[in-house]
Amino acid sequence: MKEIKDHYFFKAKKEGYPARSVYKLIEAQNRFKFLKKGQHILDLGAAPGSWTKFAAKVVGEKGKVIAIDLHKLKVGGENILFLKKDIYEIDFENDLREYLPFDVILSDMAPKTTGRKDRDHYLSIELANMALELATKFLTKDGAFYCKAFDGEDFPELRKKAQSLFKTVKIFKPKSSRAESVEKFLFCKTKK
Ligand SMILES: C[S@@+](CC[C@H](N)C(=O)[O-])C[C@H]1O[C@@H](n2cnc3c(N)ncnc32)[C@H](O)[C@@H]1O
Repeated sequence: MKEIKDHYFFKAKKEGYPARSVYKLIEAQNRFKFLKKGQHILDLGAAPGSWTKFAAKVVGEKGKVIAIDLHKLKVGGENILFLKKDIYEIDFENDLREYLPFDVILSDMAPKTTGRKDRDHYLSIELANMALELATKFLTKDGAFYCKAFDGEDFPELRKKAQSLFKTVKIFKPKSSRAESVEKFLFCKTKK
């Protein structure tokens, strides 16, 4: 991941988060207020762990954050369970049975970018679709899904799919997401 040393980078360092991306979750939380004490949260594409750390703080000791990534987390805690795996290799129904259903599914997953805009877009949409599929299977009825995807020709299709599955679907671009970045976030709530 390219490191941008801006205001958010230094703020994250000061506040003890391993990545500036934490503010993309904090801003969503300030807007939608969907993370709550005691919840079970699935955090897809969690490394280095700033979303995980923030979510773990909010859910507290009675909650749980299941964090999954190909790479190691730089954070830890009693209410964090980390699986160093590809999400495509996880048997959610069996491996995570005791934590199901999730109250919230987060996905900040991003492909290893190639610089080829179209390719990066398709890979990102593929990951977002997989996260959406997991959300439809493993979220509570009133659960929330917050997911990153790179904008491009397939983004409207992803949004449409989300609208067919959830009662509320919002497109969110946090201030901490650079204007020149193609990333956008889908916030979805309550399954149809
Ligand atoms: C932008 S980073 C996430 C930052 C994180 N939310 C934080 O705040 O620290 C995107 C992550 O998605 C992960 N990722 C991409 N594809 C994945 C896959 N198939 N399975 C698991 N993790 C994946 C990458 O390894 C990378 O660490």
